[in-house]
Amino acid sequence: MTSPELTQLFPHSESPDLGASPTEFRLASLYRFPESPDKGWWLRANMISTVDGAVTGPDGSSSSINNAADFRVFEVLRALCDVVVVAAGTVRAEGYRNIRTPERLTHLRSRYGMDPHPHLVIVSASGNVPADALTTDADVSVPYVVTTSHGASILPAAFPSENVIILRAYGDGEAAGGGADGGIDAEGGGQVRASESTGGSGRIAPEDIVGSLLELGWSRILLEGGPALLGQFVRAGVLDELCLTTSPLLFPSAVGRITTIGGGSAPVGPPSGARLGHLLKGEDSTLLARWELGD
Ligand SMILES: NC(=O)c1ccc[n+]([C@@H]2O[C@H](COP(=O)([O-])OP(=O)(O)OC[C@H]3O[C@@H](n4cnc5c(N)ncnc54)[C@H](OP(=O)(O)O)[C@@H]3O)[C@@H](O)[C@H]2O)c1
Repeated sequence: MTSPELTQLFPHSESPDLGASPTEFRLASLYRFPESPDKGWWLRANMISTVDGAVTGPDGSSSSINNAADFRVFEVLRALCDVVVVAAGTVRAEGYRNIRTPERLTHLRSRYGMDPHPHLVIVSASGNVPADALTTDADVSVPYVVTTSHGASILPAAFPSENVIILRAYGDGEAAGGGADGGIDAEGGGQVRASESTGGSGRIAPEDIVGSLLELGWSRILLEGGPALLGQFVRAGVLDELCLTTSPLLFPSAVGRITTIGGGSAPVGPPSGARLGHLLKGEDSTLLARWELGD
């Protein structure tokens, strides 16, 4: 796929053209993670929607609304993170596996002292994670699953136990606050166990998910959705940044929003503010924004 030209619209630049570049030095510098964030970690999400807000196209996945401009940034974002986090709903819809850094971008990972390829973490309360997600090349690490004790009991047996992180889930309507005990009770053998679980219907607190990633040494975190998991991260106030591609399409659809909050029964909270970090434009009118959240 030929790499499309991008133009920096905001902030103003004397050299706004981001021409096709195999090494992506300029794009990587626009999207690099903060070196030493005060809290010690940084959580970025990357999503795409159409102009009218659809998050999937006719095939029920985001692959029918994304395009070459989005893919150019998508690859750089992955090359810059320690870990890609994705919810099981998206894994089931889109089939996630084998996150490899293209050879031409490995210099970015060496520069920041990162493993050759980002790790993949799948979040599921139910444990309904396709075994296909385990299909990886020999030099790519096997995915991790963050789940409940109930979920762990029904995960495909092929998932290595040391890659299964068990955390406490909170039932619908129960506050999922992380709290002093964080819902985590670490045991040996690389596995983290919970003291209780509500089974497959509850939700693990975003703070606890982040805590488990930090325990594994991963502080540059890229959340790739989907809408249900992203909605909870926004609501919990743990998201630092949202990279949002607006694809130049309109697709009237019943399924919209890049963020959702559980089944319509969850209480409505106040909106969160966002500031524009930068805005790029593709040759085909794709817009690629980086929004900063929080204080
Ligand atoms: N446009 C985009 O950028 C974009 C990005 C990603 C996905 N998508 C699309 O979004 C759709 C999937 O959406 P979705 O509604 O299924 O949302 P989702 O967030 O992808 O998945 C929801 C599932 O993730 C697990 N989960 C979420 N929060 C959890 C928590 N706190 N604790 C434990 N498990 C949790 C649960 O899995 P279990 O049921 O296994 O418990 C839940 O059913 C797909 O069509 C996909 O193509 C679009």
